[in-house]
Amino acid sequence: MLALLQLLFVTGSLAAPLDKRSGQLMGTLGGKKKLTFDRNGNFKVVSFSDMHFGERWGDGTWASWGPSNDAATQNVHATVLDQEKPNYVVFNGDMMTGENVFADNATGYLDQCYKPTVDRNIPFSSTHGNHDNANNINHNEEIEYEQAHYGHLSYTRSDVGPKPYGNGNYWVPVYAKEGDWKPALIMWFFDSRSFVSGTGDGPGPVPDAANYYWVDEHTVPAYIQQQALLMDIIWGGVPPSLVFVHIPFQRSDDLYQLPTQGDHDDEPDPSTQGYLNNTYTGLDNPTFQQILKLSGSNNNVLAITSGHDHGESWCARSKASNGITLCFDGHSGYGGYVTTHSQVRNGRVFNLNLKDLQQRYPSVETWNSYENKTINDKVTLNNQYLAQYN
Ligand SMILES: *[C@@H]1O[C@H](CO)[C@@H](O)[C@H](O)[C@H]1NC(C)=O
Ligand SMILES: *[C@@H]1O[C@H](CO)[C@@H](O)[C@H](O)[C@H]1NC(C)=O
Ligand SMILES: *[C@@H]1O[C@H](CO)[C@@H](O)[C@H](O)[C@H]1NC(C)=O
Repeated sequence: MLALLQLLFVTGSLAAPLDKRSGQLMGTLGGKKKLTFDRNGNFKVVSFSDMHFGERWGDGTWASWGPSNDAATQNVHATVLDQEKPNYVVFNGDMMTGENVFADNATGYLDQCYKPTVDRNIPFSSTHGNHDNANNINHNEEIEYEQAHYGHLSYTRSDVGPKPYGNGNYWVPVYAKEGDWKPALIMWFFDSRSFVSGTGDGPGPVPDAANYYWVDEHTVPAYIQQQALLMDIIWGGVPPSLVFVHIPFQRSDDLYQLPTQGDHDDEPDPSTQGYLNNTYTGLDNPTFQQILKLSGSNNNVLAITSGHDHGESWCARSKASNGITLCFDGHSGYGGYVTTHSQVRNGRVFNLNLKDLQQRYPSVETWNSYENKTINDKVTLNNQYLAQYN
């Protein structure tokens, strides 16, 4: 069985499901270039959230601030990319303000959003936000456009999840070196879906009563469990992991008060996953529980990072999150709302190093990288981070 799986894995011909429990290991199909750590054993990721391209007045007229905000957002990305020189970029949702864009050219805002990254030839992928599911655009349209136009650089997939509003669930492996067959790092990407349009005047893809929705509880937990089982069989375990999802898990409501570095200007409660009619339903918990299993007893999940709450840019963990670190990316766009004490735009950096990942308790350095050409809030995430609350 093991040899057979290895053979199938290596040849990439994982056709039919192998048995009820296994299915196929995703993430290595599609003939993409293998992502690898650099010669010094480093792999740096920048996560950009909440770009909100394509804004205009509510009455449908265009205003000069829309296009000028969009140019300023490109400038933020260019500045951070030149400062950090990352190996990978994540667009962690709300690429555009879908309520404002026109259906016939909405995807043009993806071109604008990805341009600084594409110009620098940096591989990337996306999660999708509540504003990417709106009147004139949905997650599936964005995924298909990205795959069709940026397939040489984009690793975005759609492995499971309800189409067209919640199917951006997938993972991407990163190898220590080209010849390896077991990855050193897995990046997981989940789709936290959305309300309809932010206007509450439906009809739309999800009930009007849903505030912010959650990762689909019917397909995603089973997917994580199945993929982890296959990783276990084939690789002898799940590699250290980073998780990206636009809307934060509800447990971040309980971490906001902790004394952590970064902006605390936009308390997540109740704009986190799982709220219906302003009441927490617990429906983001099935996915969270599977992530907890991935993390196991050695804090194998380094962090789950989110956007959505523009004035938040901290990382924290406590008993309330079962020791999993939840981070916020801050705000990288000139579109979208701005809070008083969080005006300087930024991306969140994860600086991964092979030696740090190979420890019994893996760790990663993370910080905020700002448009004013400074970095701040540098912390090391591992089982010792905020140990007093865990
Ligand atoms: C989409 O079309 C509108 C109306 O013609 C135009 O003002 C806007 O610039 C276009 N957006 C893009 C991204 O092409
Ligand atoms: C949410 O609230 C609205 C208005 O009070 C009500 O009509 C609707 O049934 C509620 N939906 C859910 C799922 O509780
Ligand atoms: C840049 O912005 C950050 C975040 O607001 C701030 O902490 C820092 O002091 C600023 N640095 C400069 C040189 O303006």
